[in-house]
Amino acid sequence: MNRGFTRKSHTFLPKIFRKMSTQSSKERPENLQFPFLDDDATISTVKESKTFFIVRGLPGSGKSTLAQAIHDQYKDACKVICVDNYKITPAIRSTIPEDYSKMDEDLVDYCKRDISVIVVDDTHHERERLDQLADIADKYQYKVLLVEPKTPWKMDCLQLKDKNQWKLPVEELKKMKPSLEKDFLPLYYGWFLTKKSSENLRKTAQAFFDELGSLKAFKKESKHFTSEDPKGKMDLTSHFVKRPPSVLHCTTKFTDFGKALGADEYAQQEIVKASYGKAFTLTISALFITTKTAGARVELNEQELLLWPGDVDKILPADTLPKGSRAHITLGCASGIEPVQTGIDLLEFVKLERAGTKGEEIEEVGAGKLQYFGNGMWMLLLTKKIEAKAIFSGYYGKGKLVPTQGSNKRGSAFNSCTII
Ligand code: 2AM
Repeated sequence: MNRGFTRKSHTFLPKIFRKMSTQSSKERPENLQFPFLDDDATISTVKESKTFFIVRGLPGSGKSTLAQAIHDQYKDACKVICVDNYKITPAIRSTIPEDYSKMDEDLVDYCKRDISVIVVDDTHHERERLDQLADIADKYQYKVLLVEPKTPWKMDCLQLKDKNQWKLPVEELKKMKPSLEKDFLPLYYGWFLTKKSSENLRKTAQAFFDELGSLKAFKKESKHFTSEDPKGKMDLTSHFVKRPPSVLHCTTKFTDFGKALGADEYAQQEIVKASYGKAFTLTISALFITTKTAGARVELNEQELLLWPGDVDKILPADTLPKGSRAHITLGCASGIEPVQTGIDLLEFVKLERAGTKGEEIEEVGAGKLQYFGNGMWMLLLTKKIEAKAIFSGYYGKGKLVPTQGSNKRGSAFNSCTII
């Protein structure tokens, strides 16, 4: 982890810098060490993204200190919304109080202004409240980081009793504790692209779709996509009508809020915990389409492979494909198709490649070499691989697919930045 001027680098610096470094890089206590506070690459990636930091924990556990540390790091790019300013008292309750509506008005206002870092400081012990925030995040295309203070007393109700500003008694704190003790697992873990990287990938994908739709070789094989005979250019982009919500992502592990097989084991891994909220650079080597899905193929490096589960690179139990074969970003799904299909489609390509069916080389198009594998399976090997910056995190919403179509008449799924 790069913590700027560490003690080690300190002695190699000229005297003048040494003085500056001690002034500018305050040594943060261990319980305030997070990649988004200490790691330069992560900080610059977060600045290019739109992120909700949902700070979670018992009253008195150090949430506001953590929120303040995030604000100190991101300054003008950051707004903190603290529940204490809305006179909402932390409590176990059956419904979410109306008072949250004013808070959410302010939150939505920041979202509409595209504030890149929004910190929500609250206990967040209720699933229903987390669902509300996840919906707002989806609607305004924010990625979510669920963060908790790491103070040694964060679960010690006796100490919290003296530290919490609401003067909540031990009994009240104890009631709230069970819902915060257990990790709240996302629908899935993965790398979530920055706004800039998403736009870049969308642009390349759009160009590929447009070009492929007008290629003679493609039209010759159009029977796989449509029963009609495409006279002019085939509007391939409107074939993929749905996409996963929120920002473009590469799923590592589908955990289904803890219900999926191996979910807890994955979440408990040290590497998963240490990487949560950290920036990575994904390498996109190809774009592909089948009759069902459109996706980008991701080549994982050694570091990224450490976060890759051992059991996802197979369609049949007996398949033995290299680790990371399935890594992809879903760009769109045809009508009635679920996004899980994109990974399966990519594995079909890999199986064909490994069986020696390399794919017929069709021609060079703008961004690379086009290969046809039959049955409507097309892959564009990019001449210049795309480097996409992304944050490793979780997705906490419902995951319901959203339309890719823009409001334009032509309805091209790749025409506007608000789509895919
Ligand atoms: P994908 O686009 O990366 O394939 C929400 O449904 C997201 O979870 C989808 O975008 C899909 O990711 C992923 N997903 C859904 N079901 C899955 C499963 N059974 N295994 C792996 N990923 C799944």
